[in-house]
Amino acid sequence: MDEQKLNEFLGQMLQDLGGAFSIPLVRIGDALGLYKTLHKDGPLTAAELAQATGLAERYLREWLSAQAASNYVAYDAASGRFSLSPEQAAVLADEDSPVYMVAAFECAAANVSNQPALEAAFKSGDGVAWGNQPGCLFCAVAKFFRPSYRHNLVQEWLPALDGVVEKLTSGARVADIGCGHGHSTVIMAEAFPNSDFTGYDFHDGSIAEARDHAKAHGLTNAAFEVGLAKEYPGEFDLVCFFDCLHDMGDPHGAMAHVRDSLAPGGTCMIIEPMAADALEDNLNSVGRLYYSASTMVCVPTSLAQETGTALGAQAGEARLREVAEAGGFGHFRRATETPFNIILEARI
Ligand SMILES: C[S@@+](CC[C@H](N)C(=O)[O-])C[C@H]1O[C@@H](n2cnc3c(N)ncnc32)[C@H](O)[C@@H]1O
Repeated sequence: MDEQKLNEFLGQMLQDLGGAFSIPLVRIGDALGLYKTLHKDGPLTAAELAQATGLAERYLREWLSAQAASNYVAYDAASGRFSLSPEQAAVLADEDSPVYMVAAFECAAANVSNQPALEAAFKSGDGVAWGNQPGCLFCAVAKFFRPSYRHNLVQEWLPALDGVVEKLTSGARVADIGCGHGHSTVIMAEAFPNSDFTGYDFHDGSIAEARDHAKAHGLTNAAFEVGLAKEYPGEFDLVCFFDCLHDMGDPHGAMAHVRDSLAPGGTCMIIEPMAADALEDNLNSVGRLYYSASTMVCVPTSLAQETGTALGAQAGEARLREVAEAGGFGHFRRATETPFNIILEARI
């Protein structure tokens, strides 16, 4: 054994365990408004945070100490006060920031709860249906993706597609397949009031949530229906998949149905997790998160459906091109990308 390599690996483990042990603490900080209070009113001592929140000081002191040791909050020993730097606030306190990360801890918590179901699935080879995921994984996933959609979709992704913004501005029909809680649908509907948007998802709970969400935004041009990717009705100028094509049991069949549902000259936009084509090129921190989530959520979701293709979250562009081409799309290109997503354009 090489002692130096062992120590390096143990150092990595200590970092990783610190993150794992932080899952419930970050969620407590979010649920009880601690990050937001520190951001708004900080620097604060534990007693001052207790006064501001009405929470128990002894717990807050321990929580703050853990957060400071994690470098999630800053600590000033001279005053005994804790605060959030602008960078820490952007990641932990501001739900509208493009780098808000708390929802990822919620996804991690849901994955931990799902361990017994996955252990059984590893033995049987069966899937675990999306609707049977524990707690509100759906809420966590929607909350995780929302900041990226809010900051990129209208500003960067739609303009990267050929001629789509012009159509949306004058009035187009858009389908958002696998829309979940419908954040992507609502963001587009707000930006393009002359166009009509329909979100489809096979999970009725998510569709109910999406309808409430559109109502809260006062939107009249966004509707939500329970529907399968291979069976939704209607003809559309733009069909979108946001972080969901790889979750589907039969993505090839879904793309064939998109082809049939597109109006002449129509476009399919596929947002997928950032991934290279080869495993060895995905062995990095983004790939690590996505392969982990894919093991616990994406692969079991697909295996629970007909065909069970199970592309996995790290399918990569070449595999996705093959899916689109099998569905009858002759034109396929990477329109743009972010560190977390690739944005693909498919046309007939
Ligand atoms: C990772 S979530 C993404 C949700 C949403 N697009 C977003 O970005 O927040 C995957 C979604 O795909 C939906 N889904 C999976 N397979 C489907 C299918 N065959 N037909 C319709 N929806 C499906 C799930 O219900 C879930 O809402």
